[in-house]
Amino acid sequence: MKKGFVFDLDGVITDTAKFHYIAWKNLAAELGITINETFNETLKGISRMDSLEKILAYGHKENDFTTEEKEALAQKKNEEYVKLLADLSEKDLLPGVHNFLVQAKERSIPCAIASASKNAPMILEKLGVLDFFGHIVDPETLKKGKPDPEIFVKAAESIKIESKDAIGFEDAQAGIEGIKAAGMYAVGISETENLAGADLQVASMTELSVEKLLTV
Ligand code: G1P
Ligand code: MG
Repeated sequence: MKKGFVFDLDGVITDTAKFHYIAWKNLAAELGITINETFNETLKGISRMDSLEKILAYGHKENDFTTEEKEALAQKKNEEYVKLLADLSEKDLLPGVHNFLVQAKERSIPCAIASASKNAPMILEKLGVLDFFGHIVDPETLKKGKPDPEIFVKAAESIKIESKDAIGFEDAQAGIEGIKAAGMYAVGISETENLAGADLQVASMTELSVEKLLTV
């Protein structure tokens, strides 16, 4: 039997991935770099500064800015992103998420968040689901981001289970790779992307039952 769940946030619990895209696209445009949705897939699950570095490299501007300038650019993106979240509430939970968390709670299955986002606690609070999670991994404590397994291993440890007994949920390829490298069972959630390496892929969490998943 599996013993706990580890969730990505953006694109799994709520569709903030679209707001990240808008904010990165606008910042890139100001720098004369055009990004599209295909490129945006490569930013999913990647930390704020690494996302900026990827955009600059994509526009051949990786050597054009000092560290301080890059920090200011990342902060600017985050300010726009946080503004876009102003109206975020329970209605923005993705389909099936609330029901799944309630089912997990009824069975006393611990849940943790493994998100690269520094905004995770604020977002979970706005969504009204903060209390369902035993722990949120602080991305500042990580040596390496996804696809490295570190964030998933830390998430399992934080809810006192072994990685092999955990199920991870992800919408991004880098995340699926991290979950598998941690030795967990990987559930991919995406309507549009083919998530290579996922043990199971669904279009939304409405397709999942806690009871069935625990016995995979
Ligand atoms: C960061 C990045 C964003 C990425 C996200 C993954 O979020 O900025 O590009 O998609 O992690 O969840 P932030 O810490 O800025 O909220
Ligand atoms: Mg995600």
